[in-house]
Amino acid sequence: MNKALRKAVIAGNWKMNKTPSEATQLLNEIAPLVKDADCEVIACVPYVDIAAAVEATKGTNIKVGAENAHWEEKGAFTGEISTGMLKEIGVEYVVLGHSERRQYFGETDETVNKRTKAVLKAGLKPIVCVGELKWERECGITEEVVARQIKLDLYDVTAEELKNVIIAYEPVWAIGTGLTATDDQAEEVCAFIRATLAKLYSKEAADGVTIQYGGSMNDGNAAGLLSKENIDGGLIGGASLVAEKFAAIVAAASK
Ligand code: 13P
Repeated sequence: MNKALRKAVIAGNWKMNKTPSEATQLLNEIAPLVKDADCEVIACVPYVDIAAAVEATKGTNIKVGAENAHWEEKGAFTGEISTGMLKEIGVEYVVLGHSERRQYFGETDETVNKRTKAVLKAGLKPIVCVGELKWERECGITEEVVARQIKLDLYDVTAEELKNVIIAYEPVWAIGTGLTATDDQAEEVCAFIRATLAKLYSKEAADGVTIQYGGSMNDGNAAGLLSKENIDGGLIGGASLVAEKFAAIVAAASK
């Protein structure tokens, strides 16, 4: 299997932006612009925006995602949201292990792994984020860092479950900085991620996994990044909040 057979997936990660009414407005702007997309289009939105997003995307080709999920089904976890809650409200995808959660909220590979397994068990699709810090790249340990994250985050995930996993390679130094990995830098790490998956599972299983790039992807650089063999989509922050920019990235991903 090669790139042409993998599902291209463009997902917006709205982070902590947009109120419910603003979410409705933005999705109403995006929907007509992406209606002919030949790729999966997802909006991952803040929890309180999910109901509005599900409503606004009814009858469209846009899927709704969450930005995190707890690993327990229910219980005394004040402030947390379970996979069952997300599923019932209409969520299909869940971003996990985003570097902002790792940096600011104590997320570890162990908790990313617990969340990944819970999300898969609930029949939802995780978008598992990995990526190196600037100084880790400077020290020449990008591959070690990313391999460690892949191995730990996907520990105990079966080959069958892997079919529902999306990996997002997000070099931390490129997130929200305006610095983008070059097409070749991004491809190099995405190819390494696929090779790591092939070792852990099989070449066939690895060939089927959608790997996204994220980190200042925009309407100007998306086509170049997405032309690479191992880059099957994008996880978009800032540019996903502007309908025309997001739609241009979706158009670039449409085969
Ligand atoms: P930016 O596109 O704003 O750099 O954010 C990328 C990101 O973190 C997506 O999850």
